[in-house]
Amino acid sequence: MYKVGIVGAGAIGRRIVKAIVDGVVDAEIVGMFDKTPSKVQSVLSSFGVFGCGLLSIEDMAEKADIVVECASQEAVRMYGQTILERGCNLMVMSVGALLDDALLTKLINIAKEKECKIYVPSGAVVGIDGLKASSIGRVYNVVLTSSKPLNSIINAPFFGTYKEEIKERKKVFEGSPTQAVKLFPASVNVSATINLLFGKCVVNVIADPDASEITHTLEVEGDFGRFVATTENIPSKDNPRTSEIAALSAIAMLKRITSPIEIGT
Ligand SMILES: NC(=O)c1ccc[n+]([C@@H]2O[C@H](COP(=O)([O-])OP(=O)(O)OC[C@H]3O[C@@H](n4cnc5c(N)ncnc54)[C@H](O)[C@@H]3O)[C@@H](O)[C@H]2O)c1
Repeated sequence: MYKVGIVGAGAIGRRIVKAIVDGVVDAEIVGMFDKTPSKVQSVLSSFGVFGCGLLSIEDMAEKADIVVECASQEAVRMYGQTILERGCNLMVMSVGALLDDALLTKLINIAKEKECKIYVPSGAVVGIDGLKASSIGRVYNVVLTSSKPLNSIINAPFFGTYKEEIKERKKVFEGSPTQAVKLFPASVNVSATINLLFGKCVVNVIADPDASEITHTLEVEGDFGRFVATTENIPSKDNPRTSEIAALSAIAMLKRITSPIEIGT
């Protein structure tokens, strides 16, 4: 059976454990790792998983077919290389880390050498399938507009210097994915995913004090025509910065990897 290790016992890690326990993904968990070790036991025991527990990154990579990173950009930087060097596949949720060209090149080279793969799920935005197909041809324009409840982004580094008052829905940022993932490291991973597929993307961030949903609108224009995809995301009850669909996309990718049939782009 396909063996899964998980780094990060937070909102996404919990959902992945549940999906495997419920049989949504035909796989077994070999262990988890978190910088707060007590979280691992708490998550595993809450779903009745008692055959495995806290594992070091090295041991996890030796035992698992894939390690899912659902922790932080820092975790990708700290453990990505160690995991791939053991010939273990790596799924990355904290995609912003991969906008560091030196790190991305290093990880891709190790994956090639060790004949394993780096998987990046679509995450919290729909339309990645369309962008993937359309960018085989000529694409002229890609714009991502992310609207966030103000309280879900207020602790981002961006607000360390932004001092304007936000009383109503307001655009606070326009820039590149590279700038966006530095200023909103836990909130605009989707812009990094888009950037990995198509280098040039304009990111707008809207802060909305009255919103409860996280909305992403992806607009793509190219030789194929044009599409606009809007995702109105319900935030995870375990982490208001994370959209529920982000965990579901990781689970769907695990399901695709372990399934004998693949559907969709
Ligand atoms: N790709 C996407 O569209 C998308 C969408 C939502 C979230 N994310 C990203 O996925 C990641 C996980 O999201 P979440 O909502 O589960 O977060 P969370 O905060 O609920 O949980 C993260 C867990 O990882 C642990 N952790 C953080 N850094 C670590 C490290 N260096 N080593 C070991 N453990 C570490 C934390 O202790 C915590 O338990 C975040 O980086 C988030 O930004 C990506």
